[in-house]
Amino acid sequence: MNFKIETVEKINVIKGQYATAQGCILPALYVLEEHEGQVTPEREKALAHLLDVPTYQVAEALSFYTMYNRHGRGKHHFQLCRNISCYLRGSDEVIALFQKRLGILPGEVSADGKYELELAECLGNCDHAPAGILGKEDINDLNCDKLNALLDKLGAPHGV
Ligand code: FES
Repeated sequence: MNFKIETVEKINVIKGQYATAQGCILPALYVLEEHEGQVTPEREKALAHLLDVPTYQVAEALSFYTMYNRHGRGKHHFQLCRNISCYLRGSDEVIALFQKRLGILPGEVSADGKYELELAECLGNCDHAPAGILGKEDINDLNCDKLNALLDKLGAPHGV
């Protein structure tokens, strides 16, 4: 698989900024997503080749970090954190509310293609737990009222 010249050039710049090839994986994935689109298995392997790292190291990064687009996206991509800080502050209720309103499970996109839910393992916003990300924007200090208001603003159904 060949990447666009622009993609290769940007990844090569990143390679020059990090001491190890492994350190380049996350920023290179952002470049890949921005210029090539979805991070398909073929692109995952090609990136490993370009960075000269084992494919499993790219796969590990992709399996841990949920912000990369691996399977196409709903128009409104929600990542909701379920890890300990967020859980202790009620993330399970927020996640359950999201699922009830949209009728989808984690990893799914609503039938109309508008909403996608992914569960995350710490988004680095533990001091604003429960935390989430909508698209590229942080959504902090979530609770059911705040999520309902956000979903109302987006025009989400009240249960399907
Ligand atoms: S545990 Fe949820 S943001 Fe860290």
